[in-house]
Amino acid sequence: MKRSPIEVFSEWADLDKDYGMEKNHKKSVENMLSFATKQQKPFSFIDAGCGNGWVVRAVSQNPMCIKAEGIDGSDKMIKKAKSIDPTHRYSCADLMTWNPNEKVDLVHSMEVFYYLENPKELIQKISNQWLNPGGRLIIGLDFYFENTVSHDWSDSCGISNMKLYRENEWVDFFKAVAFESVEHWRFGAKENWAGTLIVTGIK
Ligand SMILES: C[S@@+](CC[C@H](N)C(=O)[O-])C[C@H]1O[C@@H](n2cnc3c(N)ncnc32)[C@H](O)[C@@H]1O
Repeated sequence: MKRSPIEVFSEWADLDKDYGMEKNHKKSVENMLSFATKQQKPFSFIDAGCGNGWVVRAVSQNPMCIKAEGIDGSDKMIKKAKSIDPTHRYSCADLMTWNPNEKVDLVHSMEVFYYLENPKELIQKISNQWLNPGGRLIIGLDFYFENTVSHDWSDSCGISNMKLYRENEWVDFFKAVAFESVEHWRFGAKENWAGTLIVTGIK
């Protein structure tokens, strides 16, 4: 029987599988962050679906980062984030209901948006309620139609409700929400692996 993403990732937190995700996602996240921070100006930051908070801790090492926080729906992931790092703010909440106290300049998310019932609604909400004018949303996805090796992940991981969209559908979500300068690319493609699909745009 398949379980919800929050149930499965809470179990992964107990089993320390979050460290494996960190290792597997690190290079793609580095590529996303270096693209998103290349202008070298001060920025505030949210990681949407932060898991154990490793991206919040990594980005806060950037001298231009003035504030970084993370949000995740799994209480176990958030407890772990707080125990590793008592300095930054980590919130346990559903991405569709949470809003930041203050809008930020950069929202990042790795391997999360396809768990949402309606990812376009989240993209719209982030544009309306999370981002400063001129702010950037950048997301990374390994589970998408063109990455055929990912197609069985819902079955192999026993996670319900994973949404398999095509590359151009993800790009269209950003354009439909009226993000500007929408760009997309695949990072780390190799044999039998189409790479992490990265999509980004500016509010
Ligand atoms: C594949 S993990 C990625 C974690 C982290 N971004 C990383 O790269 O290590 C997906 C994360 O999204 C969270 N998540 C899934 N659906 C969510 C939702 N609706 N609201 C908040 N968090 C959610 C899960 O709890 C999990 O920690």
